[in-house]
Amino acid sequence: MSVSIGEVIAVEGISITIKMFEDSNKDVLFFAGEKYKGISIREHLLIQRGFIDIVCIVEGEFLDENKTEYEGNRLIYTRKIKVRPIGYYKDNSFNEGVKFLPMIKDLASLISEDKIAAIYNKNSKNSLSIGKMLKEELPVYLPWKKLFNTHIGIFGNTGSGKSNTLTKLYTSLFSEKLLSIKNKSHFILLDFNGEYTSEQLLQTTDKEVIHLNTKDAKDRFPLREDEFWESETLSLLFQATINTQRPFLRRIIDGRNKYAANADSLAVYTKAIFRDVFSSAAQKPDCLELLRTISRIIKNDLLSEKLKNISWYSQGSKFTLLAGSTVVYFNAGGTEYDANLKADVDQLSVNVDHFDELLLRANIRLCNDLLHGYVQFDHIQPLLKRIESNLTGLKKVLCVVTEDQVRKVLTVISLRKCSSEVKKILPLLVAKHYYNQHKNNVQNPPDKTLHLIIDEAHNILSEQSTRESESWKDYRLELFEEIIKEGRKFGMFLTISSQRPADISPTIVSQIHNFFIHRLVNDRDLHLIDNTISTLDRLSRELIPTLPKGACVVTGTSFPLPMVVVVDLLDRSKQPDSEDVDLETLWN
Ligand SMILES: Nc1ncnc2c1ncn2[C@@H]1O[C@H](COP(=O)(O)OP(=O)(O)O)[C@@H](O)[C@H]1O
Ligand SMILES: [Mg+2]
Repeated sequence: MSVSIGEVIAVEGISITIKMFEDSNKDVLFFAGEKYKGISIREHLLIQRGFIDIVCIVEGEFLDENKTEYEGNRLIYTRKIKVRPIGYYKDNSFNEGVKFLPMIKDLASLISEDKIAAIYNKNSKNSLSIGKMLKEELPVYLPWKKLFNTHIGIFGNTGSGKSNTLTKLYTSLFSEKLLSIKNKSHFILLDFNGEYTSEQLLQTTDKEVIHLNTKDAKDRFPLREDEFWESETLSLLFQATINTQRPFLRRIIDGRNKYAANADSLAVYTKAIFRDVFSSAAQKPDCLELLRTISRIIKNDLLSEKLKNISWYSQGSKFTLLAGSTVVYFNAGGTEYDANLKADVDQLSVNVDHFDELLLRANIRLCNDLLHGYVQFDHIQPLLKRIESNLTGLKKVLCVVTEDQVRKVLTVISLRKCSSEVKKILPLLVAKHYYNQHKNNVQNPPDKTLHLIIDEAHNILSEQSTRESESWKDYRLELFEEIIKEGRKFGMFLTISSQRPADISPTIVSQIHNFFIHRLVNDRDLHLIDNTISTLDRLSRELIPTLPKGACVVTGTSFPLPMVVVVDLLDRSKQPDSEDVDLETLWN
């Protein structure tokens, strides 16, 4: 039983024109006890073609005026609508895709709400409730089976509801599936603004929050010792350049691996460099400054004092020591060195943490390399300066541990109180840490999954950045590009939320499978959306600049059709801490 409302009068490609029987433009209609939505833009209708009902969506509506002879030259108007097929009902089940097209004179009829619901929520049993459809107000369920094994992108201007959508998505997942997820999957949320550190997403029994703070050390992100003493990690932490600085770091690590890495061997190493600098045949002026740094790192004030009296005598290319009014030169063979410094050097002891050990080794290594003419001081020195200046911040947010800790289901890493430098570096380290760890532990096919969620991802994934060097940018993007390209094989999935999708590397955006697109007004962003999201249709696309708060277009490989969803606003306690400022209360 159906309510016929018009007939097909033109079919051009997949654009179908229907002439309406009467200009019934009611919003809701009732027929035989069933509720039907009236015909207007973005509504659905059915066209009967034999035993098949073709489901179409209304894309436009217009009036034609006709003068007819018969009715006394009266103007009569015909209401016409343009529709586009999106699928069909056969034997009462919906199939998406254009397989059948109507022919002229086929009848169009209204579609019941049940049938619309069935189009968008195929089986609500394996699905998460997330919100309502914008127009039809029918509840929307998303299939977790198809969604959480893909890369997800959540885009929209600030305040459009991205964080709420992200939170709702994972809150629903955890509330439905927590027990089955435990011990099999791990979720890491990189939280640049500290929006997820209280009761969001999960209870504290299953959620660990790492508050990173570069001013007042609070929690620290744990790195295993072998992970810290690895050239890639160190290159990343200190943004080493590829051609000279990275090999230099590698030499430091090789040197460390060769001998037992304990305080005694470090002390022997330190003592040797003092001797070598002053008694080698070709003395190098830059070494003096390095030795001063070394005495500072090992906190040896006595040596620091003594080194103050030593200077470079350029005519003789030698170090000189001012002892009272007499000047003593350091010569190859080392007798003067013995007389003046050896006793103090022999007594030095080294007691440093991993970070200072790195700085110490870097300084000693550079001294050594200079003495042997392996490197140019100017190439390596910037690296040392960077190590020194980053170290204070990094010490407060990183720690070196002997073993990986047991993890809870969700780890939230809050970067809110981090310096901009650390905000740039640490997410990479975190991503690399979990990616490598997961890659090494997972079987094939994956027996566990890892989900990396990044809110405000433009912070680290942007293509454009004027302040950083090209090579660092490439490195940064390559890591995430690898994760997004290869991660799926290992069961690692990214969820990215950003207000500036156009800034994010196109390689990354193009690998995202499913999109939640909130209001976006910037032309560049919209252009990107047009070019990269193949599953988006014109009608939904046109809605994007005008979507209300909390509404988004959901589209991608896991959904047969794009749909416009108003995501439920979470309970106050579960919402991310990102509320707009209420000036009325603030200024009251
Ligand atoms: N689905 C929604 N319905 C109603 N209000 C919402 C919805 N989503 C977000 N909001 C409100 O909009 C504001 C900004 O939301 P938020 O998710 O932080 O946006 P974004 O992360 O895009 O900047 C919040 O104050 C929130 O209460
Ligand atoms: Mg947000």
